[in-house]
Amino acid sequence: MTASTPPAVAAELRRLLANSHAPYSGVHVSAAVECEDGAVHYGVNVENAAYPQGVCAEASAISGAITSGRKGIRRVWVASSLPGFIWPCGGCRQKIWEFAEPGCEVVSVPETGEAQSHTIEALLPLGFRLDR
Ligand code: THU
Repeated sequence: MTASTPPAVAAELRRLLANSHAPYSGVHVSAAVECEDGAVHYGVNVENAAYPQGVCAEASAISGAITSGRKGIRRVWVASSLPGFIWPCGGCRQKIWEFAEPGCEVVSVPETGEAQSHTIEALLPLGFRLDR
């Protein structure tokens, strides 16, 4: 589904790609999460020479949101240095699911053109959570 992205969020996602630490894959990713109170937290991917220790942009953004005391996520935006659309990996879908409000939208923001979105329920059918 096509989705609109506030211009300020799109601009910040693009700007933050320069802060991504991705010397191994060369893929720079930024993410933003909009919380239950409207606050937006950003993150970038942070890779590591010990490859599995790398952290995805979505995980960085979620950590910031939770650290600030937010409890719920109603929207996630993702952008990258790749042409076209990028969607969260399986592990990040589960991380989003943990805090997602019902119907939480995941929006992929390409460098040019319209963004696309899917709900987290569509991206992670039957995700594991103990409280639902
Ligand atoms: N990556 C993210 O940060 N988010 C995604 O949604 C997909 C992939 C990162 C992980 C790794 O640092 C790089 O992109 C290439 O896989």
